[in-house]
Amino acid sequence: MRYIKLNGLEVSRVGLGAMGMTAGYTGSGTDEAESIRTVHRALELGVTLIDTAEIYGPYTNEELLRRALQGRREQVVLATKFGLVSHAGKGAWNLDSGPANIRTAVEGSLKRLGTDHIDLYYQHRVDPNTPIEETAGAVGELIAEGKVRCFGLSEAGPDTIRRAHAVHPVTAVQSEYSLWTRGVEDRVLPVLRELGIGLVPFSPLGRGFLTGTIRSTDQFDEDDFRRDNPRFTGENFRRNLAIADEVQALAAEVGATPAQVALAWLLAQGDDIAPIPGTKRVARVEENTAADGITLTGDQIEKLGSLPPAAGDTHTASQAQMLER
Ligand SMILES: NC(=O)c1ccc[n+]([C@@H]2O[C@H](COP(=O)([O-])OP(=O)(O)OC[C@H]3O[C@@H](n4cnc5c(N)ncnc54)[C@H](OP(=O)(O)O)[C@@H]3O)[C@@H](O)[C@H]2O)c1
Repeated sequence: MRYIKLNGLEVSRVGLGAMGMTAGYTGSGTDEAESIRTVHRALELGVTLIDTAEIYGPYTNEELLRRALQGRREQVVLATKFGLVSHAGKGAWNLDSGPANIRTAVEGSLKRLGTDHIDLYYQHRVDPNTPIEETAGAVGELIAEGKVRCFGLSEAGPDTIRRAHAVHPVTAVQSEYSLWTRGVEDRVLPVLRELGIGLVPFSPLGRGFLTGTIRSTDQFDEDDFRRDNPRFTGENFRRNLAIADEVQALAAEVGATPAQVALAWLLAQGDDIAPIPGTKRVARVEENTAADGITLTGDQIEKLGSLPPAAGDTHTASQAQMLER
């Protein structure tokens, strides 16, 4: 495993997203023992960046990680997120990045994670009711107190990134980025590079779609959130299969799996980029982590980069309202 620096913070090139271990996807929350083995295997393979959030569950994902990381906390660059749970009464899925809410959130996350510090603390979504300067200032105070090491943003637009960074240096921005979700390339990535901030692509496997293993929505459990996602519904789903087929064909040419090729393409975009593929299975963490050893030719990178655009938005209309675009 190679390592890179996200604005000074050293992380493995390939991280691990823990969200699906407890919620969101088919099979989430059904096999804690395998999830914990997956975290342990990731660490053995040199993965350091592990990603969670208080909203995952809510809370249960952080609790799972506490159990998984017992005795191993110091091996990990532990990243979690605030701002999608309002602790002042409104509860989960309510934006609140006000300083008082962040203070409450951090104490909860520290307790659930069983640690005295969070390595990378992201604002999960920009809160239109709180100036980003106040949020950055509040996280800056937590950093001064040693409760947090580094400040991150998620799905923030260029202006917010600049304003936040002017108050407290931003270490990384976590946004959706993959072969079929290229939105960060035009406006966000240039600003990150200008300011020296790292990029952590989430859903780098296209929520599993780019791996070629999803051929029908019948494969999804009733509570799998992809059932409502525009890219996974109706005619869009059918059209998007052609993208997965092309990734598969290119992977055969490379002698790798589609998941590995999708990750290798992201890694080829720069050494300021550390994707966090999500899995709850040992075999898949081994497969995904091995993407770090795959080198694509210029021609293969170009072919992958010119796949047809995906049909359908990345989010439902109400979820999309929370994204800065
Ligand atoms: N900041 C944000 O707003 C935000 C939003 C979404 C996600 N995230 C973070 O990003 C992480 C990754 O994103 P994600 O989990 O949404 O999507 P992803 O990494 O693109 O895909 C995960 C899905 O792909 C499957 N999968 C993983 N490796 C595979 C392989 N080698 N072959 C076939 N299938 C494979 C997983 O199933 P199994 O688990 O069954 O292997 C899971 O259903 C999350 O865990 C979370 O930490 C952040």
